[in-house]
Amino acid sequence: MLDEIKEIERKALEELAQASTESELDLWRTRYLGRKGAFTQVLRGLGTLPKEERPAVGKAANEAKVRLEGAYKARLEEVKQAELQKAIASEAVDVTLPGRPQEIGRLHPSTQTLREIVDIFAHMGFQVYDAPDVETDEYNFQLLNIPPHHPARAMQDTFYTTDPGVLLRTHTSPGQIRVMREFAPEPIRVVLPGKCFRYEQVTARSEFMFHQVEGLVVGKNITMADLKGTIVNFVRQMFGPGRKLRFRNSYFPFVEPGVEVDMDCILCGGKGCRVCKYTGWLEIMGAGMVHPVVLKNGGYDPEVYSGFAFGMGPERIHMLKHRIDDIRFYFSNDVRFLSQM
Ligand code: DAH
Repeated sequence: MLDEIKEIERKALEELAQASTESELDLWRTRYLGRKGAFTQVLRGLGTLPKEERPAVGKAANEAKVRLEGAYKARLEEVKQAELQKAIASEAVDVTLPGRPQEIGRLHPSTQTLREIVDIFAHMGFQVYDAPDVETDEYNFQLLNIPPHHPARAMQDTFYTTDPGVLLRTHTSPGQIRVMREFAPEPIRVVLPGKCFRYEQVTARSEFMFHQVEGLVVGKNITMADLKGTIVNFVRQMFGPGRKLRFRNSYFPFVEPGVEVDMDCILCGGKGCRVCKYTGWLEIMGAGMVHPVVLKNGGYDPEVYSGFAFGMGPERIHMLKHRIDDIRFYFSNDVRFLSQM
């Protein structure tokens, strides 16, 4: 019997050493120390032994049981520690890993270009004037020397609102009248950036919504030379110091004389290519000397004051600068395009 106890203890210790999880330990405990476990069986069987053997066997069994309980507690502690270490290792944060970059937004190319344009003019002493997107027929056309039925209206297909005489401005030029009426008879030097709308077929060259930057200078003794100097300076800052310009006679009802400004083609340098349609020139804006009627409508005496004005499209400027051949990219919200800029 004593040998049997020794053997049970030996086997129990061997199995205990192999138990490596808490649940395995639980099973082990039931097997050896539980109510139906091996030792309980031995102790229960004491009654069948001869009387003189009972104390020794009982003592041996109890001592073995106490030892196994101690061994169990120690092993349990070991296993718990090992499991803890394992959990710590698997949940560990590798602080040496490079971080994930945060996706941040950026300015829309139109906004970037608007700001670039405004910045260049700001350095020439121009201030920024914000005029409304929703305009009246009077400001968008009539006060700019475009009376009802004037053929120039056909050049600008207009979005009308349900309010009679209220429309989405087709150009930023009506802002000229607003600035003049606010500041007359003070001298004026402003740019007016903003959105314009035209009821047009959307194509690679035209959108129904786009931006313009209008410029207006009014004062005494303002001449065409001031217009040319201002534009030449602007274009060379925007496109590079070597750019050549051509002021080509043109017609806009609110200026006289009116011009269209061409820049030597940035792709072929003037030799002629597909982009400049083999002319060597790219049109970049409309401009002119403010028409006497417009000056008068703004509150300036055309006998005393003169001025020049210009209007350009930042999308077109950006397209030329970055060789983009379709204006629809700007407002179709494809991030593959937007994120390149
Ligand atoms: N408003 C014209 C347009 O929308 C552009 C323009 C031409 C503006 C000549 C001007 C100007 O100020 O003088 O096409």
